Amino acid sequence: MENAKEEIRARLAVEDVIGQYIELKRAGRNFKGHSPWGTDKTPSFMVSPEKGIWHDFSSNKGGDIFTFVMEMEGITFREAMEKLAQQAGVELKRYSGDDKKQAQHKARLYEALELATKYFQYCLTKNKAVMNYVFYKRNLNKQTVEKFRIGYAPKSGRALVDFLTKRGFTKQEIEDAGLTNRFGGDLFKGRMTVPLMDVGGRVIGFTARIIEKDDNSPKYLNTPETILYNKGRHIFGLSQAKDAIRRSEFVVVVEGNMDVISSHQAGVLEAVATAGTAMTEMHLKSFSRMTNDIRLAYDGDEAGVRAAERAISMASKFGIYLSVIDDYHGCKDADELIQKDPKLWQQAVQSYRPAIEWLFEKYEGQFNLKTEKGFSEYATAAKTIIDDVEDAVLREKYERKVAERLGISLEAFRAKKVKREEKKLKKNVAKKGDVAEISRAEKSLAAIVKFGGIEPGDIEPMSGLNEDELSLIYDEAYAKMDKAQREKEAGNLAGIVMRERAKKEREELSEAIRAAEEAGDDAKVDELLRQMQALNLGKK
Ligand code: UTP
Ligand code: MN
Repeated sequence: MENAKEEIRARLAVEDVIGQYIELKRAGRNFKGHSPWGTDKTPSFMVSPEKGIWHDFSSNKGGDIFTFVMEMEGITFREAMEKLAQQAGVELKRYSGDDKKQAQHKARLYEALELATKYFQYCLTKNKAVMNYVFYKRNLNKQTVEKFRIGYAPKSGRALVDFLTKRGFTKQEIEDAGLTNRFGGDLFKGRMTVPLMDVGGRVIGFTARIIEKDDNSPKYLNTPETILYNKGRHIFGLSQAKDAIRRSEFVVVVEGNMDVISSHQAGVLEAVATAGTAMTEMHLKSFSRMTNDIRLAYDGDEAGVRAAERAISMASKFGIYLSVIDDYHGCKDADELIQKDPKLWQQAVQSYRPAIEWLFEKYEGQFNLKTEKGFSEYATAAKTIIDDVEDAVLREKYERKVAERLGISLEAFRAKKVKREEKKLKKNVAKKGDVAEISRAEKSLAAIVKFGGIEPGDIEPMSGLNEDELSLIYDEAYAKMDKAQREKEAGNLAGIVMRERAKKEREELSEAIRAAEEAGDDAKVDELLRQMQALNLGKK
């Protein structure tokens, strides 16, 4: 595979591959463009032909052609490889005699996950307290629990790993299925489990909810990305919802997986969820194969508005009618509304309205139209969205609406030029909780120390980072500064990095403490607690 990768890399120019997705302009030795993740005011996406890499300063992502295509299309490494191999005219088969092996390996992982599902289902029936949670606290009925194959992952720490090992699965297989934690024990402990399934209903991973409140661990834990599970493409509940979606010709996209489950129990079988609110182009493509009537049941909060903005501008391209369901009767999500009265949810999914209208209403709350600033910003935000509407008739409808609202002529509104630079979009914040992601500050600090002739001070920059990427960061962000400025910048970065690292260390320690507790290793717990104390003292 490594050889095939090299061959493809040698045949394709990075700027050509990326140029198929983004408009790139030459800037000295590099190319520049706007971040495809739609967040920058000025071009912040850099491509280095010499190094064969890219870096996006607004989202702090970077990599080579393979990672770019993966990110952009929401596909797996394997799929990106196939796509690029085709473009490069490289025949993958010649490089890999192990296609069959890979298929066999996948089949084993499916088996392990299926068995894990059954095991968790069994464990649920043996635990009264959890049964109580599932059936009474969450109000799920037997049919729903069976349909979604809900289960329980025991607390013991190795129960599933031991079970699968006994059934002949190797450590590697269990790990590749995404079922283990960093210590090789069970990833899911003491949680209600819900399998993630592919469209055909095969289990590809799990999402698992904590049952007892606990400030240290996240409410939900999900399978990490594996060769079977790709987060950016997965649609929760699709295997259960697809027939209804085709029949009713609409889909309801809710925010949480439990909302999907409740919705089905309430008789709204068209409900699915994407991971978080991040709707990707892959998701929209999947939906558009089934229906062009997509109803978002999103929160009206900041994140919900941003998500809707992104979805709206993508939807036009696919000829999708995007609408919003927001009549929650004061409830915080679909599940809560259903608990109140399933009928209210059934009505809600029928009282949807165009996402654009919903969004404009949000803008009205956001901008004060009585001030010049607010007036102008509202116009800009609205125009930005409307410009992406491809259907001329609909476009005119919205142009008129906004012009009327602002008390200006249609012509004046149409004449308003919105440069991309003016787009009112929030910067992409690096995903929280994504520990594996190397922070922007870490990379910047390493770059400034390595290439800027700065003494590192009391904090060592992270080692082992990609030097090409660092030099790109340096050239772009720091090369033009004078030494004093750079030193100041390095000091700031060191401060950020120090805080980030302490936070991460605390998270890791609390995870280790939990593991030690579960393993019954009291001495280790004591030791780790001491470390935690020292860390907390150091903080002050
Ligand atoms: P919410 O916190 O709104 O969860 O997160 P919820 O669905 O209402 O959960 P309940 O009703 O309290 O059980 C919405 C979605 O965000 C993801 C999950 O997919 C969740 O369904 N999430 C949330 C996580 O992945 N991890 C978390 O720790 C929290
Ligand atoms: Mn909820």
